[in-house]
Amino acid sequence: MDTFEAINSRRSIKNFDKNYKMSQDEISKLLEVAILSPTSYNIQNWRFVIITEQDLKDRLSELSWGQKQVSDASLVIVLCADLKSWNKNPERYWINIPEESRKFLVDAMKSSYNEKPQVQRDEAMRSCGIAAQTLMLAAKSMGYDTCPMEGFDFDAVSRLISLPDDHVISMMVVVGKAIKNASPRGGQLPLSEIVFENSF
Ligand SMILES: Cc1cc2nc3c(=O)[nH]c(=O)nc-3n(C[C@H](O)[C@H](O)[C@H](O)COP(=O)(O)O)c2cc1C
Repeated sequence: MDTFEAINSRRSIKNFDKNYKMSQDEISKLLEVAILSPTSYNIQNWRFVIITEQDLKDRLSELSWGQKQVSDASLVIVLCADLKSWNKNPERYWINIPEESRKFLVDAMKSSYNEKPQVQRDEAMRSCGIAAQTLMLAAKSMGYDTCPMEGFDFDAVSRLISLPDDHVISMMVVVGKAIKNASPRGGQLPLSEIVFENSF
């Protein structure tokens, strides 16, 4: 599917075929492209918790104020990030480049994030947001639909997935076979209201 077609046809879907199962190969294909999403310093700080078991999806739906797309979708992806990935053997993010350049980048990265919890969190949200869009467009071009979600109890979901203390949840994306189209778009703001040339 052409990229513009995927962008134009992606919508947040609420009704999925509960009996439809994605194959393991398809799930892997989706995740393999998600990890090509750009991250600052190639930090690859996202961590994807994929949920396919019906019991868990049902529990997640309860923790999402009963939103049924969570239990009906084939796959729920909880997009998390490791806030401390900048300090966990970061040399491996540039394994393919010369040692001198690698050392330069590691030092720069450490000074960007060390003792800066707000920046660590900002980076987590940036990385996961971009990865979420990659997932949604890739899913669309594979014949699936998605819904991005932040409408859930973050603390309870953190406990459910045993989120490590130094990680954070950014959002969820559910993926499945749509059985009902989305309602017409809510209404997009005109470019004249949201685009500014050179300065505000
Ligand atoms: C970060 C984020 C969180 C969202 N959370 C929810 C959610 O919890 N439940 C839901 O039904 N839709 C959720 N949405 C979907 C938005 O309502 C939807 O993207 C918006 O209305 C535009 O519609 P569209 O995605 O179909 O173009 C979320 C979207 C984003 C980007």
